[in-house]
Amino acid sequence: MLKSYPKEIILKDGTGVTVRFLREGDEETLLEMYRRFPEEERWFLENDVQDPSIIKRWVETADVKRLVSLVAVLENRIIAHATIIRKYYGARAHIGKIRISVDPAFRERHLGTWMLLDLHNAAISLGLKILEMRLVRGRQSHVVGSSKRLGFREEATLREYLMDRAGNAHDLVIMVKRLRGTWEEPAEIIPGGEWEA
Ligand SMILES: CC(C)(COP(=O)(O)OP(=O)(O)OC[C@H]1O[C@@H](n2cnc3c(N)ncnc32)[C@H](O)[C@@H]1OP(=O)(O)O)[C@@H](O)C(=O)NCCC(=O)NCCS
Repeated sequence: MLKSYPKEIILKDGTGVTVRFLREGDEETLLEMYRRFPEEERWFLENDVQDPSIIKRWVETADVKRLVSLVAVLENRIIAHATIIRKYYGARAHIGKIRISVDPAFRERHLGTWMLLDLHNAAISLGLKILEMRLVRGRQSHVVGSSKRLGFREEATLREYLMDRAGNAHDLVIMVKRLRGTWEEPAEIIPGGEWEA
């Protein structure tokens, strides 16, 4: 499945978009996408995406056993970035932590859902058993709802765990999906099925 990139997807509004791996040369266009995010939103991301050295590290980590980094591209512009981060060693090697970011101008067209489906399928190809996604209650609650429909469960809440820029505390919700499927025995999510954009 990881070999099936690049591939074309069609957004809810009919726009055709290419999904492929992040690669060398993408550094500036990925930085540009994150510059288009509102500052308040960037604050809640797990990395400082305005730091070129972080973007460079993502581009240089070519080993999919540690990091799967997908981007959606439209006319040489990156409009979504989705990753699975995985520990290579020990008791956590079966867990993939996923993050999805969609350009504000391209949201609510099911692009985030497509990226989530692709990460899910990549996780199965890599033999992962657990997918974890961390969301901020109140700010990303719509994602809590839609990810539940894709089989994620709310397994823990870290109460008043994060701080916004004004110093207000926010709950962090840990969503988990336990993967059972393999490519020979598909999991319950099938791209192009109920979740077709
Ligand atoms: C979260 C995020 C990735 C969603 O991307 P997206 O492309 O807009 O997602 P989708 O269009 O696939 O929407 C998924 C569902 O959420 C709903 N939704 C999306 N944005 C919404 C909003 N602002 N308000 C209400 N519902 C919303 C959609 O209608 C859809 O519901 P449906 O499946 O019932 O149709 C995007 O908002 C983003 O990049 N946010 C900043 C980073 C972030 O919070 N990442 C999540 C943590 S990893």
